[in-house]
Amino acid sequence: MARARLTLDPAFTIGTVQRRLFGGFVEHLGRHVYDGIHEPGHPSAGPDGFRRDVIELVRELGVSTIRYPGGNFVSGYEWEDGVGPAEQRPRRLDLAWHSTETNQVGLHEFQTWLDHVGSELMLAVNLGTRGPKEAIELLEYANIPTGTARTAQRAANGRDEPFGVKIWCLGNEMDGPWQLGRRNAEDYGKLASVTANAMRQVDNTLELVVCGSSARDMPTFGAWERTVLEHTYSDVDYISCHAYYEPVDGDLASFLASGVDMDAFIEAVVATADHVRALKRTEKKMMISFDEWNVWYASRWNAVEDTFPVDHWPVAPRLLEDVYSVADAVTFGGLLISLLNHADRVTSASLAQLVNVIGPIMTEPGGPAWRQTTFFPFAVTSRAARGDALRVVLDADTVPTAKYGDVPVVDAAATVSPDGLSIFLQNRHLTEPTTLTVDLHRFNPASVAAEGIWDDDIHAVNDLADTTRVGLRVNDTAMLTDGVLTVTLPPVSWTALTIG
Ligand code: AHR
Repeated sequence: MARARLTLDPAFTIGTVQRRLFGGFVEHLGRHVYDGIHEPGHPSAGPDGFRRDVIELVRELGVSTIRYPGGNFVSGYEWEDGVGPAEQRPRRLDLAWHSTETNQVGLHEFQTWLDHVGSELMLAVNLGTRGPKEAIELLEYANIPTGTARTAQRAANGRDEPFGVKIWCLGNEMDGPWQLGRRNAEDYGKLASVTANAMRQVDNTLELVVCGSSARDMPTFGAWERTVLEHTYSDVDYISCHAYYEPVDGDLASFLASGVDMDAFIEAVVATADHVRALKRTEKKMMISFDEWNVWYASRWNAVEDTFPVDHWPVAPRLLEDVYSVADAVTFGGLLISLLNHADRVTSASLAQLVNVIGPIMTEPGGPAWRQTTFFPFAVTSRAARGDALRVVLDADTVPTAKYGDVPVVDAAATVSPDGLSIFLQNRHLTEPTTLTVDLHRFNPASVAAEGIWDDDIHAVNDLADTTRVGLRVNDTAMLTDGVLTVTLPPVSWTALTIG
């Protein structure tokens, strides 16, 4: 049995957990929009074509802000194609995903869906094949109340009220060789700066996100952030981070410890941003929008990507439909822990993505919608992580990993609010339970409840054949004795403790 001890103090806070930390991401990709959230003719679809069963699941997931419409897709997207009478909208090639975009869902329809799920829109502009002109046209269409040709066009398209989009992404992964219109840091930094300034001339209340590196292992990582921020520091509010994790060569121990990499990634971007802050002699602190994160078996995708024939551009093909296991969900829970532990600088994040495409929710055309294993850590954390994130001091046994050396067997994050204390835990041990103790004398604890995800079969999944095989479980080992909490964490597990 491994051992870990956690010390918490209500006075030692990291920062307030922003609701935007629990954002999501919907891209026009595969069966995410079409045959995912939008399936006219499905028994649960409303008159607007949106599946009500999916809406219910997204609400249950507790997603705050949703980034849209991409992703790689946005770098070739012309937003005007997606507004106006649906039957007149053009079909276009989507070069990012080698598909046909029918444009049956665009800005208006997506806002309708957001109203159903109760989430805020985070809109990305195309800085791949387009520039500041098209960005300010979209902004005018979306945010100016009335009085111009574009606002009249919006009203004619069914919406008098502006969309009032607050948070905008200046392109997507502009450092990536796969990105339409990719640029070097110097060129992108200049483009992002002029675009941001133009957008602020239309609406100076915006919050703007500039693209950071598309992954920590990009060859330009670090230098990219520095150069881009040198051009844009006073123009933007956030720099983005993107990270996806998968086991390499079956190395589960390193995979479970992916939070170690995410911690290092965030801390490197913070250091780089603070370096530019010093150069600029400004008080302004740059925030991070971790606007793509997840477990993604991307190497499987890369293997098929180059095989698409030039005469085949399917509508809503099955792409990136990863089926997540218990071990994936435990790793995923570790990534949420990392985000919480950086709540002072990561004030916006988007789980990539939501439905069918590397999503916590899956659907079958004409059939059911269900929760993947990763649904559970997200839903619980989104509900329970309230108030301030606390600095956690861990004294724990270690486990060896090939990638990160010896790492603490347990990873932890904690939040405190007037409603109580929540502690989020990951046991990375492959075979042993871990006994955790937490001295809670400074919190006057009255009750404890523990729930989480683990299984004798860490490869168990929910799929069409059995949509409820894996679910949340109650951990009844959690006990309070004289203000000290003890709990036994099963091997390869993620647990949330709620202390009243
Ligand atoms: O989420 C899938 C893809 O991953 C996104 O389109 C892109 O931004 C990233 O490379």
